[in-house]
Amino acid sequence: MKTMLIAGNWKMNTTIDETEILTRQIIEGITNNLDPNVDVLICPPSINLSSASKLIKDTRLRLGAQNCHYEQKGAYTGETSISMLTSLGCSHVILGHSERRSYFGETNQFINLKVKAAVQSNLIALLCIGETKDERENNKTWEVLESQLFSCLIGVDGNLLEKVVIAYEPVWAIGTGLTATNDQIQEAHARIKNYISEIKGIPGRTVPVLYGGSLNEKNALEILSIQDVNGGLIGGASLTSNSFLSIINSAQRVIN
Ligand code: PGA
Repeated sequence: MKTMLIAGNWKMNTTIDETEILTRQIIEGITNNLDPNVDVLICPPSINLSSASKLIKDTRLRLGAQNCHYEQKGAYTGETSISMLTSLGCSHVILGHSERRSYFGETNQFINLKVKAAVQSNLIALLCIGETKDERENNKTWEVLESQLFSCLIGVDGNLLEKVVIAYEPVWAIGTGLTATNDQIQEAHARIKNYISEIKGIPGRTVPVLYGGSLNEKNALEILSIQDVNGGLIGGASLTSNSFLSIINSAQRVIN
């Protein structure tokens, strides 16, 4: 049975009022209408997690952060700890997003510290990996994905792997309107699952893999129907309730 996670990455968008309006619209849209095999996650900016957290209480909507620090507390100006996130009711944290890698210099080693800290504290790490346009054109896609997976998952073994979800996001597809072809997506997702099973010694068990990169209400049904796609990480199209709810609807159609 396929399960789906539809995750909205709001990035640095939405004021507190906008957060509340959008959260309410999504809650209204999914109430009484969400298949038990579909999970819906919103990841507002960290400063607005607290208000979203109050609104999602007793609903099926889940809450995630877009980043965290790996230390429990201390002198890390501007950072957010995992216990701060869990105390707000966050179940997930996005880690290793390509924007954090490229604009903020996050390395696989640094991301690995966060992934380990998150899963050890029972937070689900939504680990993003993906190749650039140049890397794809130079046939380096698999080398890059493998090295991101290997390095970011060091020390994440056994039961801890149950707290990991991978998001395959080709960097050239993020925010560009370009999407990978169905064949490219299926190939990458199957290889990611096999590679993790192999290096972690868990034959027959797989980690869920979401697709991200210009996923929207028009292409969702087709992309979510691909065999090894277990949901989507959605940026731009998660910022309006109509498009996000329409993607959730497509996920339900795939499940049924
Ligand atoms: P996009 O962003 O849907 O706007 O391409 C996806 C992401 O960055 O997670």
